[in-house]
Amino acid sequence: MDATDMGNDLKEILVTAEDMDRRLGEMAEQIDRDYAGRELLIVGVLRGAVMVMADLSRKLHTPIEMDWMAVSSYGSGTKSSGVVRILKDLDQDVAGRHVLIVEDIIDSGLTLSWLKANLQGRGAASVNIATALRKPAAAKVDIDVAYVGFDIPDEFVVGYGLDYAEKYRNLPFVGTLQPHVYSN
Ligand code: PRP
Repeated sequence: MDATDMGNDLKEILVTAEDMDRRLGEMAEQIDRDYAGRELLIVGVLRGAVMVMADLSRKLHTPIEMDWMAVSSYGSGTKSSGVVRILKDLDQDVAGRHVLIVEDIIDSGLTLSWLKANLQGRGAASVNIATALRKPAAAKVDIDVAYVGFDIPDEFVVGYGLDYAEKYRNLPFVGTLQPHVYSN
């Protein structure tokens, strides 16, 4: 999928595919330096993180294993409570492992804050976070994120794994949608 497939639904491209690829390369270099001599378990958070997991992991030279979790905000349907329900847990035991959680976006920070504490509670040797995107203006909790691709404005974004009503995840870039899309 590309901009030409979107008719007039695309408002603006915030991060091009080329910029994302270049930035993930820089992040991978930093991760390789930071984890030199160690083995890493990278944990992708479904579903949005699929693209960044695929692209970031292929740029890493550090020996990695990959695992996946699916989480959902509990009950209310919003994430504002910060209470998270595990829909799919890890297949691996993280005790004693160096874990890097990989995300597409950190919005309020509540999901990642909960997830980091959860994996630390299972006895991981270390837990860090890598995210392609972060919205600093939307933060509700202070969360330490070791690797950030791009800080973006507090706008609804799609592409590179991020959806609107499950669409647009397969756009190669990150962009915003025209208002008429939301009123359909
Ligand atoms: C997104 C994203 C994070 C979370 C961030 O997932 O992948 O997991 O929201 O929000 P927060 O910082 O406010 O907690 P989403 O629930 O949209 O699921 P998806 O990845 O399946 O699209």
